[in-house]
Amino acid sequence: MINGKSSIIPEHIAIVMDGNGRWAKKRLLPRVAGHRAGVDAVERIVKAANEIGIRYLSLYAFSTENWKRPKEEIKGLMGLLKYYLLKKAQLLKQENVRIRFAGRRSDLSDEVLSLMDSAEAVTAECTGLQLIFCLNYGGRQEIIDAVNTAIHSGHIGSISESLLEENLYLPDVPDPDLIIRTSGELRLSNFWLWQSSYSEFFFSDVLWPDFNRDNLIEAIKSYEGRERRYGSFTV
Ligand code: FPP
Repeated sequence: MINGKSSIIPEHIAIVMDGNGRWAKKRLLPRVAGHRAGVDAVERIVKAANEIGIRYLSLYAFSTENWKRPKEEIKGLMGLLKYYLLKKAQLLKQENVRIRFAGRRSDLSDEVLSLMDSAEAVTAECTGLQLIFCLNYGGRQEIIDAVNTAIHSGHIGSISESLLEENLYLPDVPDPDLIIRTSGELRLSNFWLWQSSYSEFFFSDVLWPDFNRDNLIEAIKSYEGRERRYGSFTV
């Protein structure tokens, strides 16, 4: 709702899933164990979001900056992603969840790319929740890619908001209404830079592997009490 309290649930929730490393450290476990527990949280939150009737859930799974992490950790994260796509695509299809991706395909292995393509194909006809994994994703890079795509398609004169938007990774996906970041960090970290102009934010102290349905509902309730003005004013 524009100019007024949004008593409706958010159409698009985006999540920065932060705190896996600290979750593992608290338990004297390797960081990858935190990421593994993070996958369980992904499953929990996808199920809850689908049941609640959220239309789009985007998850910041791997940023363009995450390549700076130790090789072992990157390998662990990619392994978890491969496992998830291989094992869960069919199950998600049964739950009517459509899997999509946002990010640069370059730098991802052929194996990961082929699992991504097949998860997208298997769930392409699903009409429930759209689950978007932001993978090798960076907001600045997305804007640069959109401008370059526009240039290469012959639009070399000037760029406009609508032209840029048409060339984003997922132009049909609405901007996130609500962006959640877990683990007490108060940053956007290059997530949905263009699309977050009017997003509402919810910061939770809960570490991502502990994030559950009740935490999600708390974030949605907080959103429902917000007044979204989009630069205008309330009468
Ligand atoms: C940030 O926590 C988390 C990530 C960089 C990766 C998020 C990935 C997952 C939750 C698993 C992805 C798997 C699938 C199937 C999508 P951090 O490691 O920076 O935590 P810290 O700040 O406590 O160190």
